Amino acid sequence: MSAWNERDIPLQTGRLAIVTGGNSGIGLFTALGLARAGAEVIIATRSEAKAVEAIRQVRASVPSASLRFEALDLASLRSVRAFVQRVGRLPKIDLLVNNAAVMYIPTRELTEDGFERQFGTNYLGPFALTLGLLPTLLRSPHPRVTTVSSGAANMGLKRIKFEDLEWDRGYRHYPAYCQSKLADLMFAIELGQRSARVGIPLTSNAAHPGAARTNLLSSGRGRPPNLGVRILIRIIGQSAAGGALSVLRASTDPSATSGSYFGPSRLGGSRGPPAPVGVPAPALDAGARSRLWEISERLTGAHWDPTQPPVPFEN
Ligand SMILES: NC(=O)c1ccc[n+]([C@@H]2O[C@H](COP(=O)([O-])OP(=O)(O)OC[C@H]3O[C@@H](n4cnc5c(N)ncnc54)[C@H](OP(=O)(O)O)[C@@H]3O)[C@@H](O)[C@H]2O)c1
Repeated sequence: MSAWNERDIPLQTGRLAIVTGGNSGIGLFTALGLARAGAEVIIATRSEAKAVEAIRQVRASVPSASLRFEALDLASLRSVRAFVQRVGRLPKIDLLVNNAAVMYIPTRELTEDGFERQFGTNYLGPFALTLGLLPTLLRSPHPRVTTVSSGAANMGLKRIKFEDLEWDRGYRHYPAYCQSKLADLMFAIELGQRSARVGIPLTSNAAHPGAARTNLLSSGRGRPPNLGVRILIRIIGQSAAGGALSVLRASTDPSATSGSYFGPSRLGGSRGPPAPVGVPAPALDAGARSRLWEISERLTGAHWDPTQPPVPFEN
């Protein structure tokens, strides 16, 4: 079988997709791929100016693209709630791509809600956003949530540090990032399983882009890796467009069922066409996934009981 590529994306006409961080890197090329396939796309990000520029770039390739900006700061539950209140009023949402993230914040910083910034932005914000949007997602005939994780999910820490989830003691930027991406992957699997248990037809899967040349490494607020790692990424890495293919496959391939995980298939998963990849062992621990979910509900105030009518995310 030939390698999966953007031409394999099924027609997305009539589907509405939200891409967090859709103004840059993987998110921008995910938005472009979805728009090219006919989806209506909401670029959910914190800077309107950057979103406007991203929309301009997508329209330069796809003049008929239907895109718009909605303000979202994942480091603020206030902003997440406001987004849910505005966008949750839509008749339906078909696809949510939890893509936005920060990486390697050098010293321990807190979000508006007092969460450690990498955990708060990369995991707790998307957790609250997804649960808040579920009622609208479930109005779609084929709802899907694709969460972007990372090879880092299985590096550095390789577990959720329940005893000090937010790095109050001895913050280290690298394991803190790894934990946040492991939490993303665990969430993607847990959401799929909780839905399946009660017969809700929601697909929740995950993807990672390998080593892609984006702003995450070059101009973010994170500490740049050392020169050796930067050179290695130049050599083995791929373009942002290449990295986005895993995300596009997870978010559109009809065979990308709940719990599936996609990543580049070459050079140890750093580049190449997207293919199903194994879920690393730490994310397969059902007890840890459930414990993380319950803690996240408590921390964010977002709740989902699939057997009950949806509770508005307002507290
Ligand atoms: N690049 C890689 O090699 C690599 C490898 C593994 C995993 N990933 C994952 O791929 C995803 C996309 O990253 P990328 O590489 O494309 O990096 P990027 O170019 O820096 O994009 C990150 C996006 O997240 C947005 N963002 C950051 N903080 C936010 C917040 N508080 N609220 C809303 N949006 C926020 C950024 O917005 P601003 O432009 O306003 O900052 C930007 O749009 C991330 O989940 C990352 O962990 C990337």
